[in-house]
Amino acid sequence: MGKGKITVVAAILIVAAGAAYLLTREDDQTSPVVATPGDTPDTAAAAPPFGGPVDIEDASAAWTYLTANQLAGPGASVSNAYPGSMPHGQLLETVTLDADISGHSGTLIIKKNFAAPEGETITADQVSADPDTYLTAVTIMFQREAGYDDGHGNWFWAKYLPDGSLDKNGADMQLAGRVGNVEAGAGCIGCHVNAPGEDYVFTN
Ligand code: HEC
Repeated sequence: MGKGKITVVAAILIVAAGAAYLLTREDDQTSPVVATPGDTPDTAAAAPPFGGPVDIEDASAAWTYLTANQLAGPGASVSNAYPGSMPHGQLLETVTLDADISGHSGTLIIKKNFAAPEGETITADQVSADPDTYLTAVTIMFQREAGYDDGHGNWFWAKYLPDGSLDKNGADMQLAGRVGNVEAGAGCIGCHVNAPGEDYVFTN
């Protein structure tokens, strides 16, 4: 490959990474995508490693697994809700198992987040009796093979709304993949890095 071609390829990669980062509104395809000339490959690589097509595909496979095994979705039962705290729910349920999803096998931790309507409180019995009414989100951690995210325990993270669609962050990025940024103290990883035991899991 000639030097010119390499430059072109590098430029395309930078623009693509920049576009992924700047395309904050999925439904607004017309927003101008500006390639910042000063961007170096390093800054491009620093674009958040989540919310991309592969992450969304993985999240979709995981949701299919959850519903097929009645771990989430309509009719999934909840028997062990316990009082929770921000940013998860007023009541939580955590289930841990070994899972095989799309050729990946590892520990899968599912946390269901329940909340009462504004100003009300709910009990674990109410949640067990009618989980679908109070469910606000399903968050998962799925431990992947070495090399997936070695610096952060190799966890795949996802946050679903009760209907199985992915929740989004303030920049409209879907919350699936290596969600978060330790340096910025943001996202799933930015908070779970504080879990005791350095395995990113609080409820050990
Ligand atoms: C501000 C801190 C914070 C953020 C941000 C956060 N979590 Fe958590 N998470 C916690 C705490 C604290 C617990 C333990 C709650 C409990 O069960 O009492 C927890 C528990 C969990 C668990 C159960 C396993 C465990 O660590 O105990 C899962 C799964 C989970 N979180 C997923 C997520 C996902 C996915 C995201 C991002 C979309 C996320 N969390 C963002 C604080 C956070």
